[in-house]
Amino acid sequence: MEKLTEKEISPLPSLDVWEDDVLSRYPEPGTAKAKEEFRVYNDAEDNPVREFYRLNHTYQTYGNVLAKKANFLQFDKMEMPWWSAMEYLNTLVDESDPDISLDQLQHLLQTSEAIRADGHPDWFVLTGFIHDLGKVLCLFGEPQWNVVGDSFPVGCKFSDKIVYPEFFAANPDSTDERYNTKYGVYTHQCGLDNVHMSWGHDEYLYHITKDYLPEEALYMIRYHSFYSQHREKAYDHLLNAHDQEMFKWVDKFNPYDLYSKSPKPPVVSELKPYYEDLIAKYLPATVKL
Ligand SMILES: [Fe+2]
Ligand SMILES: [Fe+2]
Repeated sequence: MEKLTEKEISPLPSLDVWEDDVLSRYPEPGTAKAKEEFRVYNDAEDNPVREFYRLNHTYQTYGNVLAKKANFLQFDKMEMPWWSAMEYLNTLVDESDPDISLDQLQHLLQTSEAIRADGHPDWFVLTGFIHDLGKVLCLFGEPQWNVVGDSFPVGCKFSDKIVYPEFFAANPDSTDERYNTKYGVYTHQCGLDNVHMSWGHDEYLYHITKDYLPEEALYMIRYHSFYSQHREKAYDHLLNAHDQEMFKWVDKFNPYDLYSKSPKPPVVSELKPYYEDLIAKYLPATVKL
């Protein structure tokens, strides 16, 4: 790949812009929130979300995923206590409008506090709290389209149920006969554990946490951006029966991620002791990134 320009590394003014776009695609049922409440862009050529997906769909190849796994699954970048890692993630600030946007920690705490308020098990609360930690990839210089965006399988035909499917035409895998058939390198209902997903914060955090959290939590972490499956059911031919069972938890998690935003920021200092205890209960003292 030629050297990327600054605009190709960060097409979005902030990562939240992607999340706002997801929210406009999947608004909370029963609420009639005006689109103006979110930074929703129209379909103009200069729409940053559109440009983000153009880059994402062009460059998320099977080869890209294998290369990113070879690099980031070494976990040789940094090591620190979990809480420090959460604070490190929070240095990812929205420079475009620091006043109106919630920082990363606030989104995570609003998600986890909504889960806690509904009386779910503590590992579910912890999952809500850490689910976006993988976004530290941005702080390691990864382009936004290798960190966020709807995730999807690579190594087989891209579904037209994925947002902006037309941009896959520029992906070299679309014309590679190893990868452009319905099953590609996979077999019927082979199970998602055998499927490579596009690279991003979900897959990265899954590998960081896979030895420590219950399987239900790991499904939520690994597939929370896989909208073309959990909302559109586009890949039933790859999921096995166990995946289908576990996706009930992905479905349970998604509304907390999308619909827990509230203008009232959580008070981090008041919540910190509770979350430090949760971290200590399930996770090792430090996290290797
Ligand atoms: Fe996320
Ligand atoms: Fe999130």
